[in-house]
Amino acid sequence: MTTDIAIDTGERLTPEQLKTLFLFEHLNTEQLEWLAARGWVAEAAAGETVLREGDPAEVFVMLLEGEIRLCQRVGRDEVEVNRSSMVGAYAGAMRAFVQDETAQRYTVSVHVVRDARLFVLHAGNLVELMQTWFPMAVHLLEGMFIGLRNSQERVGRREQLLALGALTAGLTHELNNPAAAAVRAAAGLRERVGTMRHKLAKLADDRIDRDLLRMLVDIQEEAVTIAAKAPELSALEASEREDEIMDWLDAHNVSDGWNLAPIFVAGGTTDECLNKIAAGAPPEILPAALHWLASALETETLLSEITDSVTRISTLVGAAKQYSHMDRTPYERVDIHLGLKSTLMLMAGKIEGLEIVKELDRSLPPVPVYPAELNQVWTNLIDNAIQAMDGHGTLTIRTLRENDCARIEICDTGPGVPEELQVKIFQPFFTTKPVGQGTGLGLDISYRIVVERHGGDLSVESRPGDTRFIVRLPLTERQV
Ligand SMILES: Nc1ncnc2c1ncn2[C@@H]1O[C@H](COP(=O)(O)OP(=O)(O)OP(=O)(O)O)[C@@H](O)[C@H]1O
Ligand SMILES: [Mg+2]
Repeated sequence: MTTDIAIDTGERLTPEQLKTLFLFEHLNTEQLEWLAARGWVAEAAAGETVLREGDPAEVFVMLLEGEIRLCQRVGRDEVEVNRSSMVGAYAGAMRAFVQDETAQRYTVSVHVVRDARLFVLHAGNLVELMQTWFPMAVHLLEGMFIGLRNSQERVGRREQLLALGALTAGLTHELNNPAAAAVRAAAGLRERVGTMRHKLAKLADDRIDRDLLRMLVDIQEEAVTIAAKAPELSALEASEREDEIMDWLDAHNVSDGWNLAPIFVAGGTTDECLNKIAAGAPPEILPAALHWLASALETETLLSEITDSVTRISTLVGAAKQYSHMDRTPYERVDIHLGLKSTLMLMAGKIEGLEIVKELDRSLPPVPVYPAELNQVWTNLIDNAIQAMDGHGTLTIRTLRENDCARIEICDTGPGVPEELQVKIFQPFFTTKPVGQGTGLGLDISYRIVVERHGGDLSVESRPGDTRFIVRLPLTERQV
């Protein structure tokens, strides 16, 4: 229940009564009379709310009797920031005199704990009072207030830069491998194509007949098709197969079998193929024919490598685009799994060696979020989990619906967060990592994104071997 204390009750305090309030103790008689003529006394019963956070700051209040508590919204909860029964305790439009829009709203809610009597003054009167009686103090306070806000903005921008830096570093690292692989494969390909021209010339020198050449080309075609579907062999299977092929080559008097065997193994070349060549080609031509086949297989492998690498590069660029949401509007309903997926993809290099378990509730409805910001949260939480596990363990990503919230858990099997640190880890700059490795900002940034930006909640449950960072995001659009 709200009592509208902004309406003048007509009940006045005397200048003597006002002088007993500590804020007014140094005012002169004239000033006290000015105040007495303008401020009024309002009453509010226990349980009532007299000022509401976020409402336009209309009045300034001082406690005369009773008890009040000041509360601030943190995410979806209200947290008590102060409680007072001290006569003269004040709240409300305290910053009205600062020429700044953000100062024109209540920053806290005031609830009455025990029946209260309040001295109330219009914000406009407070401004007039401050500017005429204490002009210098107004300048100083304004400077302090605006300075504080500027530095908060600067910290905010720095955070964005940090996140951007982390993204760029991750992306460059990830892009580097496939790009290098593609360059290597292309160089290999150039060499093989040269060799093939050379082998073809050699076959021509040997004056092979047209039918034989036709057969070789057919077999090559067949071998390449088989190679594309060749199953991945285990190391043991591969070495057994290599021995078999070496024996076959030896039996057919091919001298450098050790050069060819691994290529035929990788290409899944069948005995049938080899036998067909041996049956069709005269013994003096057989080695050149086999080399030619091997070159064709290698060319094919290199081409697939290039295709794979380039596909990976374009997938990464796609993920980066998703991640930063370069092409999206800021607040929108999205499938939460998309961001998790693109984050994991960008971190692929870092999670190598860990077991990844995904327990995803695909029926989760789209969640209203700032997707790019939320990706920073996933990155920070997954990054922490990876670092905690130091190379081995299980990373679990879990999504589920919990009442009117989406619940996302990032779990690891690392050593856990000791109980006494569980509150501290969310503080800015708290880190247990060596200098240069952790800034201690990851969880602070994540907390602010989840709680302040999305009205959600970020918490931790941890014991050795089982640590869960739990993000809750409301499924209904945030009312600002
Ligand atoms: N999954 C986890 N397991 C164990 N400890 C963790 C985990 N996640 C966070 N912590 C603890 O919380 C601290 C703070 O984490 P936070 O992400 O804020 O900073 P940081 O990882 O140290 O540095 P950075 O700014 O690089 O993220 C960590 O130093 C670590 O001690
Ligand atoms: Mg971190």
